[in-house]
Amino acid sequence: MTFTPFALEEWQSRYEHSVDYNLADSGCHPVALGELLGDDPAAVRQMLETELHYPPVGGTDALRALIADWHGAASDNVLVTVGAAEANAITVSSLVEAGDHVVVMEPGYRQVRGLALNAGAEVDAFPLDPDNGWRPDLAALDSVVRPDTKLIAITNPNNPVGTILTPDELDAVVAAAARVGAWVLADEVYRGTERLTDEITPSLCSRYDKLVCVGSLSKAFGLPGLRLGWLVAPPALVEAAWRRHEYATIATSMLSMHLAEIALESKDRLLTRNRGLIRDGYTRLAQWVAESNGLLSVVPPEATALAFVRYHLPLTSAEVADTLRTQAGVLVGAGHHFGVEHHLRITHGLQPDYLNAALTNITKVLQTYQA
Ligand SMILES: Cc1ncc(COP(=O)(O)O)c(C=O)c1O
Repeated sequence: MTFTPFALEEWQSRYEHSVDYNLADSGCHPVALGELLGDDPAAVRQMLETELHYPPVGGTDALRALIADWHGAASDNVLVTVGAAEANAITVSSLVEAGDHVVVMEPGYRQVRGLALNAGAEVDAFPLDPDNGWRPDLAALDSVVRPDTKLIAITNPNNPVGTILTPDELDAVVAAAARVGAWVLADEVYRGTERLTDEITPSLCSRYDKLVCVGSLSKAFGLPGLRLGWLVAPPALVEAAWRRHEYATIATSMLSMHLAEIALESKDRLLTRNRGLIRDGYTRLAQWVAESNGLLSVVPPEATALAFVRYHLPLTSAEVADTLRTQAGVLVGAGHHFGVEHHLRITHGLQPDYLNAALTNITKVLQTYQA
């Protein structure tokens, strides 16, 4: 069987530490440890006294309860994992076998797609439509779902285009799954990154019985380095995923679990910080697009620290992204990493000077193409 590498993550892991500006990560400028702990000497002392033993493998009771609360579920629905990445991986390996049919949303973070292909499944996609503000094409969803579809995977809010599905659109996804008895995997890592409202995107949790919600601290909370994520699912699926978790990682770290409790307890502070970066960063990016004399365009995203920017040049996204890397010193995601050509995924939830300098470098290189 051929192996499908995770092209986006390979691109990032090869180059993200050798460029001047990394606009390819999908979160905000990260929170520092001191910023998370605040001025609380007791919190610092507790950190220093933490014994670095194996933690409870499925997550501490306190952490599972906090995650359950974030999704409106119960603690025994929660398994704590090494990032959403592990949660997606063990969900797919629990549910998908060779010969199964899986449906994904595109453009998208292509982890579930690659995992399913590597498990020997057949994968079809339904599009978010660029000519309709990146809304989902629900007729296309209905036409790709088949009696043997095992899993429908969505990301809400979406990476890379920032669409937040409406309640009606979510109902349509659940109805398509229910029609054939398929599972739904709702990757909700971008809940809490809303740009236009302070209302947190509702979790799909509890809208359907064959549902797995995935989340993490990497995006809305600004803490990707903790490598802490989770899945929320019916207890039988939590058990099945847990058995795979024991093989893959055993557990995330004790310190990460401890810091995750602090993060979820102070979520309002962290969400406000990161939404501030997102709102300011997108304003800068939109201004930059507006000043590009028609070279660039973007559909304003509803959430995330990302913009999926269209460039109006007859060049592949691999070529443009590689030229930006080598000549502008800027790493961005290429459209082909998400299944759509002629776009670049640019992260804007960053410090203003850093973002401005990187965008200026991109402009210089793109102008040489135009010339
Ligand atoms: C949709 C989506 N799911 C999962 C992940 C992995 O996140 P984590 O850092 O929590 O492993 C990412 C990271 O970019 C993502 O965009």
